[in-house]
Amino acid sequence: MTFKSICLIGASGNLGTHILRHLLESSQNFNITVLARQSSTSKYPDNVKVVTFPDDYPVDKLKDAFTGIDVVIASLSMTSMHQQFKIMDACYASGVKRYFPTEFGLDDLPQWLLDLREMFKIKHDVRDHLIENQAKMEWTSVCCNAFFEMGVGSGFFQIFWSEKKAVLIDGGKAEFVAATLDTVGLAVVKAIEKPEASKNRILLVQDFRTSQKEILDAIQKKVGGWEVESVESGPWLESGIEAVKKGDNSQLGKLTFGTFATGNKYEGRPEWGNEAIGLKTKSFDEAMDVFWAEHEAKQKA
Ligand SMILES: NC(=O)c1ccc[n+]([C@@H]2O[C@H](COP(=O)([O-])OP(=O)(O)OC[C@H]3O[C@@H](n4cnc5c(N)ncnc54)[C@H](OP(=O)(O)O)[C@@H]3O)[C@@H](O)[C@H]2O)c1
Repeated sequence: MTFKSICLIGASGNLGTHILRHLLESSQNFNITVLARQSSTSKYPDNVKVVTFPDDYPVDKLKDAFTGIDVVIASLSMTSMHQQFKIMDACYASGVKRYFPTEFGLDDLPQWLLDLREMFKIKHDVRDHLIENQAKMEWTSVCCNAFFEMGVGSGFFQIFWSEKKAVLIDGGKAEFVAATLDTVGLAVVKAIEKPEASKNRILLVQDFRTSQKEILDAIQKKVGGWEVESVESGPWLESGIEAVKKGDNSQLGKLTFGTFATGNKYEGRPEWGNEAIGLKTKSFDEAMDVFWAEHEAKQKA
């Protein structure tokens, strides 16, 4: 089977822009439809069909938009991922063949985090729903652990640019999985190009594994003057959990990082996907270049 008509929802987002670019660059000449909300102001190239849509994604209109579509990719924001239940219903009604849920993060989550962070529960519920209904529609769930350049710049890796302070967990040497947004976008398109290899499965993809220490060392080669605090993972995570329980949602990112701050590994697992889809990856240095380019552009803006 080959897929020809692709509909992307969330094409203006952090990840969606990369998925769209790789769809346009694919040698398979996809027919591409972008489903954009009425409140969206983004512009798209002429060879992309744009369907403007009410912000609450009504099912009837979705059914019309999905007629003749082979693949629907949801690259939706954290705040809108609950809309996927309507989107999946419309997919079944319109005969969509493959669905990519808005995953693109952690592949598995501890129950304590699911209890504290509703968004992740939705991701799990959507995955369960897709498995239950896979006789009606195929699915591919792309998981990449951390977006690398976002993690470096946003404080997610506990490297805080505004204070020039890094908090290293257990010495910061534990290695975890990371992927640039460009590679995650490419992975989605490669998965569409190789439908059998990506059918009804979690696809674990990455550029490399890295550590807080490796990232901080690379930063310090260019920008000096960092304060470094060392903490033990157990009490560090516990303080975040307690803060969130008391209503301080600013600590949720810390908890998310905390699920893999002591290290994780995708390679060797049954869901490992890089080779299955022939994914071209970036080195750590290339990914740091991506980060520096964005960082410098932000500083000039
Ligand atoms: N692994 C990681 O480290 C990491 C980090 C961040 C995000 N993620 C995951 O990656 C996926 C995509 O995230 P993203 O950062 O690319 O999303 P985003 O940029 O915040 O939003 C993606 C798109 O969602 C659409 N949207 C629909 N309803 C919306 C609403 N109420 N508010 C804002 N946007 C809305 C918009 O598309 P239109 O304007 O075109 O309609 C928007 O451009 C999510 O599953 C997220 O959890 C992973």
